[in-house]
Amino acid sequence: MIEQLTQIFFSLLILSGIAALLAFLIEVAHAYIADYGECQLSINNEKELTVKGGSPLLFTLMEEEIYIPSACGGKGSCSLCKLKVVEGGGPVLPTETPYLCQEEIENNVRLSCQIKVKNDLKIEIPEELFLIREFNVKVDRIEELTHEINGLHLTVQNSEEGLNFKPGQYAQLKIPKYTKTKQSEYRAYSIASAPKNKFDIRLLITKVPSGAVSTYVHDYLKKGQDLKMTGAFGDFYLRDSDRDILMIATGSGLAPFLSMLHHIKDHGITRNTVLFFGDKATEDLLCMEEISSFETTLPNFTFKPILSRVKDKDKWKGEKGRVTDLIEKHVVRNSSIDVYICGAPVMVKSCMDLLAKKGIPEECIMFDKFE
Ligand SMILES: Cc1cc2nc3c(=O)[nH]c(=O)nc-3n(C[C@H](O)[C@H](O)[C@H](O)COP(=O)(O)OP(=O)(O)OC[C@H]3O[C@@H](n4cnc5c(N)ncnc54)[C@H](O)[C@@H]3O)c2cc1C
Ligand code: FES
Repeated sequence: MIEQLTQIFFSLLILSGIAALLAFLIEVAHAYIADYGECQLSINNEKELTVKGGSPLLFTLMEEEIYIPSACGGKGSCSLCKLKVVEGGGPVLPTETPYLCQEEIENNVRLSCQIKVKNDLKIEIPEELFLIREFNVKVDRIEELTHEINGLHLTVQNSEEGLNFKPGQYAQLKIPKYTKTKQSEYRAYSIASAPKNKFDIRLLITKVPSGAVSTYVHDYLKKGQDLKMTGAFGDFYLRDSDRDILMIATGSGLAPFLSMLHHIKDHGITRNTVLFFGDKATEDLLCMEEISSFETTLPNFTFKPILSRVKDKDKWKGEKGRVTDLIEKHVVRNSSIDVYICGAPVMVKSCMDLLAKKGIPEECIMFDKFE
């Protein structure tokens, strides 16, 4: 019996080995032998482009200076790079299915980083994406805000206009290839500066263990260095309405709210605005002076920080717990508010569940998940 099981085990092992080898050979053939020649890209039935086949659609469009949102650098994990492939896309790939609902599949929505340009394609792209530009930026300053978050101050170099963005939107920062990466990489970072400052852009970047881009920013990037940045992207931005505003953030999720608060101040907006900010300990609190200044300059602004792991020596007088505790305690059931949530996906999910229980309609809740 044991002998038979061992035989089955080794047969399966050999079969898996052969399958892996074949998959590898197909990839090598695709990369080095397959020549897809020139392909036609028809965009929105308006624009015709002749492009070199063989690369993912996302990168092919980038070469043509058409920038599709992407936070993961084309790894197929953020799902932001969706667009419509009306003709020529072939069947939906297994790497796409986890990110597409049935309605999207029926409407030809695809992940542009997963589809390779192998033949002529007919695609549809939202018009506003044609306004997105790539900028040369210079590192003006790197500021250590906490033990794990740096403020990165960038100056836009090659533009008369600078970066136009709405408060809350994000940019994609591109770093060069270095010892920990195989190629240049880019990731999404919310803009933390005032929209009126189109040439001075600030990002808040949390160091992620073994993270390609965040490690580069924290450990390798130097003042005066040149980088590329693309933007602005995203539909997480401050909406015009008469409702009160509730902002909920953890960690560097504070970034878009600093931009929104500057915008509120610069435009004399008087809506009641509350910022819930949650983190672990007092040393995780960031940009406190800036936030305090809003408490004095904005007539209707309240800041409510909460910490989950304070020690006696911290002499913390504020609230203790998580941001969800603040929702439980301070959000009035069925209140007329616009809620903006930004930070780790689990936090965003917990807040949304609680807000739904409090009767806040889904259409009044906007969020950005840092994943
Ligand atoms: C719209 C949007 C806005 C964003 N804004 C900001 C921002 O303002 N500031 C900021 O710091 N980040 C922000 N992010 C996250 C950022 O884009 C990167 O995902 C993050 O910096 C990690 O990139 P990396 O190259 O360092 O790590 P990667 O090399 O991409 O990842 C390395 C490993 O870490 C894991 N990982 C990735 N992100 C995290 C994380 N946040 N926590 C724990 N593990 C992680 C990955 O699953 C992977 O296993 C934003 C993301 C989105 C989608
Ligand atoms: S770029 Fe992130 S999933 Fe396509």
